[in-house]
Amino acid sequence: MTSASGTLDPKNEVGALDRRLFGGFVEHLGRHIYDGIFEPGHPAADADGFRTDVIDLVRELGVSTIRYPGGNFVSGYNWEDGVGAQAERPRRLDLAWHATETNQVGLHEFSGWLDKVGSDLMLAVNLGTRGTAEALDLLEYANTSVDTARSRERAANGRPDPFGVQMWCLGNEMDGFWQLGHRNATDYGKLAVRTARAMRQLDPTIQLVICGSSGRSMPTFGSWEREVLTQAFDDVDFISCHAYYEEQDGDAQEFLASAVDMALFIDEVVTIADEVAAERGSDKRIMISFDEWNVWYLSRWQEEALTYTNDDWPVAPRQLEDQYNALDAVVFGDLLITLLQRSDRVRSASLAQLVNVIAPIMTEPGGIAWRQTTFFPFSVTSRLAQGRVVRVPVESATFSSDRFGDVARVNAVATIDEGGVSVFVVNRSTADAADLRIDLSAVRAELGRELRVVEDRLVHDDDPYAANTLTDPERVGLSAAGATVAAGALEVTLPAISWAAFRLE
Ligand code: AHR
Repeated sequence: MTSASGTLDPKNEVGALDRRLFGGFVEHLGRHIYDGIFEPGHPAADADGFRTDVIDLVRELGVSTIRYPGGNFVSGYNWEDGVGAQAERPRRLDLAWHATETNQVGLHEFSGWLDKVGSDLMLAVNLGTRGTAEALDLLEYANTSVDTARSRERAANGRPDPFGVQMWCLGNEMDGFWQLGHRNATDYGKLAVRTARAMRQLDPTIQLVICGSSGRSMPTFGSWEREVLTQAFDDVDFISCHAYYEEQDGDAQEFLASAVDMALFIDEVVTIADEVAAERGSDKRIMISFDEWNVWYLSRWQEEALTYTNDDWPVAPRQLEDQYNALDAVVFGDLLITLLQRSDRVRSASLAQLVNVIAPIMTEPGGIAWRQTTFFPFSVTSRLAQGRVVRVPVESATFSSDRFGDVARVNAVATIDEGGVSVFVVNRSTADAADLRIDLSAVRAELGRELRVVEDRLVHDDDPYAANTLTDPERVGLSAAGATVAAGALEVTLPAISWAAFRLE
């Protein structure tokens, strides 16, 4: 057992919470759309073919804005293939994932699904195999209320009113060699600027995300951000970050340091963006759209991808169906804490992805839908985090990371709203429980009342590799940590490898 102590002081405010931090990501990939959210023959399917059991789980997860339709997929996608009569839509090869896309779900169907789950749409345009003209066509189709050929087409396809999409991604991971239409930073920057200016001429109200690096370990990380922002600084609102983490070589302790990498990544991108601003004498601040983040056992997928042959273009194959364990959920919860701690600059984030594909929700065709372990930190944080975000500095013992040196065992953040306080904490140690005490005197003084614990949620399992599966879908769930408020402080013992959230009112 070790001790840790922190302070929850409203003076450490990060800023007002932007709900877009709890966004998601749905890509045409594997069984995400087909046999995931859309399964017309399923007993729980509604009249539009969408599974109502999945809709209920997505609502429970609490996802704000959902990025669509990719991902790598978007870089070869013709959005026109997904509108109009479903029976006439073309089947296409999806080069990104070596699959066949039937186009039975497109913009209209997906937008209808978003209405059911209560989320907003964020669209990515194809800057891989296509360019400015096609991006404009899609924007006009989606957003214009003027009587044009595109808006008439939209109305004829069942949607007289514009979709009113606010956030737009200028392509996807254009720095990645695997991306269709991959370019160097200079060439991508030129294309992004041209496209951004044209899109803003059509709809000046939209917010634009330029592609940053696909990961902090990309060889062009840093120089890519500097180049694309130098070109596009005046034309975009956000730069993207993508990051995936996995346990490697069975080293759980090192895996539990993943959030340090995410924090460094954000800080480095912010530094570069602000340097570009300074060089131009600008007060404008470019925000981060962390529009892909998760635990992903990428190395397993890379092995699987090698088995694909050129005759093999399946519809909705089982791809990237990672099974998450309790350890994954703790790392995942720590990533969420990190996004909150930096939410002054990370104003939008998308959990990649939602259903079946590296997802918090799994489904079986014709069968059940269930919550993976990572479902719990997301749903609890999305529901409890409200108002303004406040840093919670914690003094704790450290562990030694090969990559990051001494890493604090305990990490925490909080939000404060009129009704009370929500606190999110993680114990990253594989070895020891932590006795944590967080001083509440400053926040009690501000709220003018005593606080008590009204909700206590713990993600922990004595077997860190325990997971929820088709045959045992509720093996890992939420329990209580036994937190109390005593002598003006929140007190709790966090087991080794645990994440917890508390609501104090
Ligand atoms: O989320 C899976 C893939 O990861 C996305 O398609 C791509 O953008 C990233 O490399």
